[in-house]
Amino acid sequence: MNEIALTVHQTARPQGFPTAEDFTFVESPIPAVPAGGALVENLYWSVDPYHREMMDDVPGGFALGTPLEGRAVGRVIASRTPLLTEGEIVFHRKGWRTHSVVAPEETRRLPRFDGVPLSAYLSILGGTGLTAYVGLTRVARLREGDDLFVSAAGGGVGTATGRFARLLGAGRLVGSTGSAAKAEHLVREVGYDAVFDYHDGPAAELLRKAAPDGIDVFVDNVGGEQLAAAVGALREFGRIVRIGTLSQYNTSLTPPPDFNYADIVEKSIRMEGFLVSNHLELQEELYEFAVPHLQSGRLVPDSTEVDGFEHIVDAFLGMLRGRNTGKIIVRGLTQP
Ligand SMILES: NC(=O)c1ccc[n+]([C@@H]2O[C@H](COP(=O)([O-])OP(=O)(O)OC[C@H]3O[C@@H](n4cnc5c(N)ncnc54)[C@H](OP(=O)(O)O)[C@@H]3O)[C@@H](O)[C@H]2O)c1
Repeated sequence: MNEIALTVHQTARPQGFPTAEDFTFVESPIPAVPAGGALVENLYWSVDPYHREMMDDVPGGFALGTPLEGRAVGRVIASRTPLLTEGEIVFHRKGWRTHSVVAPEETRRLPRFDGVPLSAYLSILGGTGLTAYVGLTRVARLREGDDLFVSAAGGGVGTATGRFARLLGAGRLVGSTGSAAKAEHLVREVGYDAVFDYHDGPAAELLRKAAPDGIDVFVDNVGGEQLAAAVGALREFGRIVRIGTLSQYNTSLTPPPDFNYADIVEKSIRMEGFLVSNHLELQEELYEFAVPHLQSGRLVPDSTEVDGFEHIVDAFLGMLRGRNTGKIIVRGLTQP
């Protein structure tokens, strides 16, 4: 076990894109285990777009000079509660640190499925996969043969959405992403039929070329111009699943997307947003759906794994710049 614990603190409120100077790594002795709690050595960390939103001076946001929080998977290395046993692998939300002191109710014991890597609990079987699953099955209420457009298709939610949509019998699958290499991965590996790079021109034109006959469902991680383009491309009874607004996380508020509001009425379009935290009861259903496919190889988690906790800030900054394909995960050097 390392003798020193490391924790990441935010030291300044970023203006636009954050930089490494907005964070610091704080060294401390390994924390003591309080009565009723346990000490977890973290093995995998998730860094997420919502962390960027929490870095602003907003209600519920991160306080400066205190440890950041985020999803992590780790091993219990010392315990003073009968509810957590040494050696157990748990999920918790006290990430961005090498060691976390947790109470039992702050942790979730992870089931182990043969052939499924631990990192999957932060990607396709975790909040990322659950978001994609809820979006398709509960919000879009996907029907076999539905044609989809997915924005930020190359990220964690976007790749999970594409893979799940294929397994659920979707029709034409169109995506947008930020680079040719990601577009190629999405078509070759994930099962998208056509993917455009949103830097290549006006979104409406690019979408019209990729989906000339229109779409039934738009799974939206981005908002802005791509949302406006999708409203134009949707068919009658189309559904918009609002998941996130990546286009405005690092800018001050962008103007609302400019689209024909009458389209919403005339095409009977339904637009619905959701937070995955309100659908945690579907976690078991996600395991039942996804695990057999993971075990058979029909479903593959897409992730970019960055080695070493000392690179967690770089991993986060890289994710905001689109350097990840699939879910970005930081992997500790100690493995179970
Ligand atoms: N509603 C919920 O409960 C819930 C839960 C989880 C996630 N989310 C949201 O889902 C979205 C995707 O999250 P994720 O974890 O899967 O992240 P991600 O897509 O893996 O990573 C972010 C990606 O966004 C793209 N991006 C960055 N700036 C952009 C911009 N201005 N316009 C378009 N794309 C941009 C980048 O890829 P490119 O190369 O394509 O630019 C980057 O890789 C986020 O909005 C997140 O907040 C919501």
